[in-house]
Amino acid sequence: MTVLIKNVRLYGAGDPVDVLLADGEIREIGTDLGIVDTETVDGTGQILLPGFVDLHTHLREPGREDTETIESGSAAAALGGFTAVFAMANTSPVADTAVVTDHVWRRGQEVGLVDVHPVGAVTVGLAGKQLAEMGTMAAGEAGVRLFSDDGHCVYDPLIMRRALEYANSLGVLIAQHAEEPRLTGGAVAHEGPTAARLGLAGWPRAAEESIVARDALLARDAGARVHICHASTAGTVELVKWAKGQGISITAEVTPHHLLLDDSRLETYDAVNRVNPPLREAADADALRRALADGVIDCVATDHAPHAEQDKCCEFAAARPGMLGLETALSIIVQTMVEPGLLDWRGVARVMSENPARIAGLDDQGRPLAVGEPANLVLVEPDISWTVRAKELASISDNTPYEAMTLPARVTATFLRGRVTARDGKAVGKERR
Ligand code: NCD
Ligand code: ZN
Repeated sequence: MTVLIKNVRLYGAGDPVDVLLADGEIREIGTDLGIVDTETVDGTGQILLPGFVDLHTHLREPGREDTETIESGSAAAALGGFTAVFAMANTSPVADTAVVTDHVWRRGQEVGLVDVHPVGAVTVGLAGKQLAEMGTMAAGEAGVRLFSDDGHCVYDPLIMRRALEYANSLGVLIAQHAEEPRLTGGAVAHEGPTAARLGLAGWPRAAEESIVARDALLARDAGARVHICHASTAGTVELVKWAKGQGISITAEVTPHHLLLDDSRLETYDAVNRVNPPLREAADADALRRALADGVIDCVATDHAPHAEQDKCCEFAAARPGMLGLETALSIIVQTMVEPGLLDWRGVARVMSENPARIAGLDDQGRPLAVGEPANLVLVEPDISWTVRAKELASISDNTPYEAMTLPARVTATFLRGRVTARDGKAVGKERR
């Protein structure tokens, strides 16, 4: 099957070209490629980028298929321009054995809209007590390469030290949800003037930063790599910068919501704004934006966290933390980073595709737009805006914090190994290809 993308600008720069996709690869790049018997996609006025890679997605299958499934989450991912996502291990049962991780991988391949790479748990049941069999998961069909207890912190320093040593010997990566639980008991919001006034129990920045500092030192001593999930504070930025300066193998991600939103959103007590780590202050969001621009923070990750209506439309402190993110990620990055001049489109490719692919060790994603490379691609219309309506999103759940907001830029098509997986707002399942 071949697809011809006509008249598109690569990385949003230079003159428009035609790009021919065949046999899963970029076959030809040129002008006036007039191939017959090909599906043609008009790229006029649009930008071609490598497909996005999300290191942090919650797909809720197995266990909470009422809120998201691998199928619905894959559709959301394809519509958001993603060609690979990492599905976190906090499912039910927990993805702490190869039985679960291989199942998630196979189901993702069956659906065929995006490569769903399972994240394996670091500890059995995410309980933080006993290391999971990372080696078996890594050796399984899914070839698990990213491990995390996300949702929970690997808080015990001895367990974390052993996990880093074990991961190092396996050549895999630990991603840490940095939250010192002794500092966040009962916490539901960022500790600061807003939470104090609203009467919400606070999550201090130090709960995140103390774990980031500790894990940087543990990674240094183990000679291991460590990845920081959803960095949320200006202090985390400073610590990651310091650790990188020391030559420590540390990487970090930031979510679109921590770049755009801050704790002033809590005034309404609408639990759609409850998330871990919590929305911080405007100065933190500003520091995160600058850190993403200058490379201290390596990449964007959505932390797409679907929740049922009954778990969100309730008292703030009773609600589950988390918000949708896959279908709005690009638009939020354009609004917070591209429009203010902090990133160009080449930079968007770097933080949403190339860097996450490199961090996770995917050799078929985040590749250059060049002949012979895998055709994992996204086509973006930069000059339109759209209004977010939860009911129109592919996710089963509705907990988007951007409801009714008008956002810039939109994904118009996504290609996985040369096949169209999303086009003009519709996910394109296998049966329609
Ligand atoms: C996530 C979830 O719902 O699984 N929630 C969240 O607030 N981010 C867990 C997590 O990423 O910590
Ligand atoms: Zn987390």
